[in-house]
Amino acid sequence: MNNIAKSLFFIILLSNLIYASSLNTGEKVFKAYCWGCHHETSVAFGPSFAEIANKRDVSEIQGHIVSPKSTYKQLGHKRSVMPPFGEKLSQKELDLITEFILSFKDKN
Ligand code: HEC
Repeated sequence: MNNIAKSLFFIILLSNLIYASSLNTGEKVFKAYCWGCHHETSVAFGPSFAEIANKRDVSEIQGHIVSPKSTYKQLGHKRSVMPPFGEKLSQKELDLITEFILSFKDKN
């Protein structure tokens, strides 16, 4: 292989590795950050995604994920123990996890 081919090969290899390790689906975001407290259709420590999907819209869901302390009262919770994810998730990851939650609408 000449040098250009070698460089290309490593760039492709590297971008594949980055792609494979990034949280590029809602399910991956869910498993990385939410699964300990939320399950898809059954109640865990927090409400199930099916329950959330059936009563909330995109802005309520994203507002709570980013800053639960500022939205829990409005959503009818007496207290909030969920950690904020505003600094952990990119906008893309936030959109993916929201889409994932809403995919459980009518599934409980
Ligand atoms: C440490 C446990 C914990 C983790 C981790 C957690 N949650 Fe929560 N979540 C809760 C609890 C408990 C509530 C109930 C209200 C509160 O505590 O803020 C909640 C509430 C919510 C709500 C609003 C529920 C409603 O009333 O409609 C959404 C949306 C939500 N979580 C999404 C997520 C997402 C998405 C993740 C992962 C990125 C996540 N949560 C991670 C515990 C958790």
